[in-house]
Amino acid sequence: MNEKTITLVTGGNRGMGLEIVRELAKAGQTVILGSRNLSKGQEAVKKLVDEGIQAGVVELDVNNPESVVKAAKTIEDKYGYLTSLINNAGAVFDFRQKPSEINLDDVRKDFEVNYFGLISVTENMIPLLKKSSNAKIINVSSMMGSKTEALNPESEVYNAVAVGYQSSKAAANMYTVQLAKEFKRENLPITVNAIDPGIVATEFGGATPEQVSAMGGKPVDFGVARTVELATDFDNKDTATFSNTHGKVAW
Ligand SMILES: NC(=O)c1ccc[n+]([C@@H]2O[C@H](COP(=O)([O-])OP(=O)(O)OC[C@H]3O[C@@H](n4cnc5c(N)ncnc54)[C@H](OP(=O)(O)O)[C@@H]3O)[C@@H](O)[C@H]2O)c1
Repeated sequence: MNEKTITLVTGGNRGMGLEIVRELAKAGQTVILGSRNLSKGQEAVKKLVDEGIQAGVVELDVNNPESVVKAAKTIEDKYGYLTSLINNAGAVFDFRQKPSEINLDDVRKDFEVNYFGLISVTENMIPLLKKSSNAKIINVSSMMGSKTEALNPESEVYNAVAVGYQSSKAAANMYTVQLAKEFKRENLPITVNAIDPGIVATEFGGATPEQVSAMGGKPVDFGVARTVELATDFDNKDTATFSNTHGKVAW
């Protein structure tokens, strides 16, 4: 590709988002770290600068429409376009609640971030992605959103219960498929894919990385490997896929 690769990563201030920013910047991309709290984002950028890595930062709360619109305007003014959008921001509020007693407010919070927020960011960044000749949207989903895996006793997510979170990721998967099909029908050069990072040692859901590691969680660089692979492969025109480091994941 002749044009410079400009990538926005939502939820880039910590966890896998920060690692994605780090690895894509190292790969030579111009990376914009989205953070709902600007000072946390700036701290993360400073950490990268200390490692010799440059990244931009933009305030971006996926749940706040004003923040999303403002972030798109800031990116347009400063960079002009986007090549890649990595929808990584995510949260879980209903972990281990019984489906028969689930707290609806928690389910709504899951959907606010993982589904409505993802759509809001995507819609606002599409005009910038359309200015690129070869663009990508990568949605950081989860095997937890796969109904096939939830029904598979051999699966690592078989015993996990977080129905609000799982449904919000399943919904984001359907958005991935439908958006990919729309772009394909319209011959737009924007691929849309979902990835599953696996179970990864971050602070996700309020755990500590050490706790998740002790339960078999993988290191952060493993968790981002599939995203980084897709985000750096501009010859790959696959769209409407759901994959992880092992290959295809059942929807
Ligand atoms: N860890 C796992 O085992 C695992 C497995 C499968 C999928 N995933 C997915 O991987 C993605 C990254 O998770 P992680 O493990 O890196 O978790 P994490 O360390 O908890 O990071 C989550 C990121 O999302 C941000 N975020 C949450 N709500 C937001 C909002 N309203 N607006 C903008 N940013 C928001 C957080 O910002 P703050 O710092 O401001 O809270 C943080 O930067 C998520 O989509 C998650 O669902 C994780």
